[in-house]
Formats: sequence, structure tokens, C-alpha cells
Amino acid sequence: MPKLTVEGAGVFDVPEGKRLVLALEDEAKIDQLHACGGNARCTTCRVEFVAGEPEKMTAAEKSVLAARGLSGIRLSCQILCDHDMTVRAISRLAGSGRKDAGSRPDNAIQPPPVFADK
Ligand code: FES
Repeated sequence: MPKLTVEGAGVFDVPEGKRLVLALEDEAKIDQLHACGGNARCTTCRVEFVAGEPEKMTAAEKSVLAARGLSGIRLSCQILCDHDMTVRAISRLAGSGRKDAGSRPDNAIQPPPVFADK
């Protein structure tokens, strides 16, 4: 079982292959935003990696980060927990002014992932 460390929150065992956005919500109990429902459109599921950043990136993640000129962050809805990782949860419902975190993302990465080097 991969270990997910969230700075300031703790270390959590996560089922192998679970979407990071869902692990943040379910295992770490973080009020992680995911406004588009985990579809690589909103970028509110962003996290900063401290350790274990995946080398691969979905084409959808790469495209939306480039379109918005974002770097130094990753989209938790486009990442699977298949190894140990440490992140900072930098995009949370508390203080966001939003009424909710967004609809629950599907269990599988959406859109169906095509992985490429980041
Ligand atoms: S980009 Fe919207 S939840 Fe990930």
C-alpha cells in the first residue's frame, strides 16, 4: 500500500492505484477542491509535491497546465497513488469562498488517461 504524506496532516495508507484527489479526500480527510469533478479542466485540485512527484503526466494535465501557464504544481485528479509521495495541499475549500469542493471525481482518471513524459 502506498503511503501518502500530506504536510501538516499526517501519513496515510492509500489503496494501490487510487486517484490522488480521492486519497486526499478519503484517507487524508483534506477539504481538497476539485471543482470540475476531476476532469482536468479547473486546476483547483492542484497540489505541490515535496517528494515522489510522478515522472509521467497525462496529456490532459500537460495541456491544461500549459494553457494556464502553471508550473511547480500538479493536478491531483490526474495522478494515481502507485508509490509513496509527499504533497502540500494548497487548494482547499476552507477560505476559497466556494460553496463546496466540487462533485466527487470518478474512481478512474478522466478523461481516460494518455500518459507522457512531463
Ligand atoms: S482539474 Fe478539476 S478536479 Fe482536477
